[in-house]
Amino acid sequence: QLSNLSGAMIGKGGHRHFMAKEIFEQPQVIGDTLNAMFNPAARTITLPALPFDLAAVPRITMIACGTASLAGMVGRYWLERVARVPVDWDLASEFRYRAPVMADGGLAVFISQSGETADTLAALRYCKAHGQHCLSIVNAPESTIARESHAVLPTLAGPEIGVASTKAFTTQLVVLACLTIALAKMRGAIDHETEARLSSALTEVPARAAEVLNHDERIRAIAQSMLTPARDVLYLGRGSSYPLALEGALKLKEISYIHAEGYAAGEMKHGPIALIDESVPVVVIAPSDPLFDKTASNVQEVVARGGKVVVFSDPEGVARLRDLALDAIALPAVDPFVAPILYAIPVQQLAYHTAVDKGTDVDQPRNLAKAVTVE
Ligand code: G6P
Repeated sequence: QLSNLSGAMIGKGGHRHFMAKEIFEQPQVIGDTLNAMFNPAARTITLPALPFDLAAVPRITMIACGTASLAGMVGRYWLERVARVPVDWDLASEFRYRAPVMADGGLAVFISQSGETADTLAALRYCKAHGQHCLSIVNAPESTIARESHAVLPTLAGPEIGVASTKAFTTQLVVLACLTIALAKMRGAIDHETEARLSSALTEVPARAAEVLNHDERIRAIAQSMLTPARDVLYLGRGSSYPLALEGALKLKEISYIHAEGYAAGEMKHGPIALIDESVPVVVIAPSDPLFDKTASNVQEVVARGGKVVVFSDPEGVARLRDLALDAIALPAVDPFVAPILYAIPVQQLAYHTAVDKGTDVDQPRNLAKAVTVE
């Protein structure tokens, strides 16, 4: 087999690009990151010892840039819904300049693959100076953000070379899911049974992620037929699928240079519906969850205006939307809690195949850097 591979492909594990290699590594690194915190016998989550009382924090502020900020946005949905703790969310570049008011003893969470992003680091220094417990979720344990934080929860994604973040994002989600479960348990927001159910759902993710990767050929065909020719693409999602709509659009912009927008499905009527016609593909992220029906009616509205819809859902959701959508991919059915981790993968694949089809420099997109260490 190896003799068939060019030298350049060997460092990429037989893939054409680092990004593809990193997309395909996700079942493994999601499992590695989870195993560091999951106790299989008790079906509980154990965080590393922290130098402050996590259960006592009155409020959490989530701060990051780029794709990492979207992991933080998913974290906000999880922490508020499951752990019942108030969460603020900010882009680091906005946070640092808006003189935020912070009560003493809050928790500030910084999410960063590189641990060197200048705006995130500046926000960390601000929070330290304003009486916050600073916890970072980083992929580079020796980085400045890791060193300057009071505590670190590592992502075990391994080196990420592709500029567009993939496996760092899904491992950030795993850490945030573990933080949610652990904090919810400490605060008495969930009982042991719920802790066991949610953490068991997490342990299924690596196997389900491997199944998602099996759809690669179908997703490539959709990318080529629908996205490559498009000038604009809309991504829609609700609840914790909304940050994934933003992430799908961000990935597509970054590497294919196609204009894309992520929107909360419920905001469609407040603007983006005016864009819909047969030339704008609409990618809908709609796992079967309590918000599914709402998103399904948005799909109807898009289709009624001639929009071409691609749906990512599970077998039940696809059965309900198949007649409306131009194409629908049935991902494995999972507990809605872990859906954001799983649904991150097909939007990465969609962007990747579109970019490859357009012939852009997938691993080193123009004008972008892997770590933005200047303002
Ligand atoms: C750059 C990268 C993105 C990344 C962002 C934040 O823009 O191209 O992929 O999401 O920085 O980087 P960080 O290292 O802080 O996660």
